[in-house]
Amino acid sequence: MEQVTEIDHPVVKRYLSILRDKNTETAPFRRAMGTIGTILAAEALTDLPLQEYEVETPIQTATGYKPAAEVFVIPILRAGLSLVDGIISFMPDAKVGHIGVYRDEETHEPVNYYHNFPGGLKGAYTLVVDPMLATGGSGSHAIKFLKENGADNIRFVSLISAPEGIKRLREDHPDVPIITAAIDEKLNESAFIVPGLGDAGDRYFGTL
Ligand code: PRP
Repeated sequence: MEQVTEIDHPVVKRYLSILRDKNTETAPFRRAMGTIGTILAAEALTDLPLQEYEVETPIQTATGYKPAAEVFVIPILRAGLSLVDGIISFMPDAKVGHIGVYRDEETHEPVNYYHNFPGGLKGAYTLVVDPMLATGGSGSHAIKFLKENGADNIRFVSLISAPEGIKRLREDHPDVPIITAAIDEKLNESAFIVPGLGDAGDRYFGTL
């Protein structure tokens, strides 16, 4: 898998435009996030190993396939939840764990406040999910924590990534591919992604 994958798809570009638009209301914002979540999951799992088995069609037997590895989805709370519906509609058997990390508004440093994920991370395909990869502090912190708990095959799935965050994740976790719908220009002085879409969590949850 590529180390950094930026999805290049016309439908994704359309939904991204809806998400970026400051006038988009909560309902279409949620729908767009769900659709892009599904497409990101498809891209993040292109190399999922399969086990063959025999299926009976109404005509004859055919080769069927099922995943040969477990898939874990780990949203970084809170905004990571915005992509989970779209991901598990594509991969309904995936297990979902949670990590709570917020970014201190003054220092911009990540603070871990919650975690709850199932055992068995070792050997599983673990998708760490957060719509915004800004400085990369939260993502790097979450990945480190998951590795300490056995995860050995992690992909970072984000909607919009800043070059600064990509650089940070590549340096801290060179083994973790990044799958994103857009690589934006830069961070501003408040460490918000430019042009970005504002605060993804607040817009998804309607807490602006
Ligand atoms: C946002 C975003 C990421 C983090 C990205 O979360 O959802 O988790 O900031 O920034 P970083 O790459 O610089 O760490 P926020 O702190 O707004 O919390 P929320 O998810 O609860 O809205």
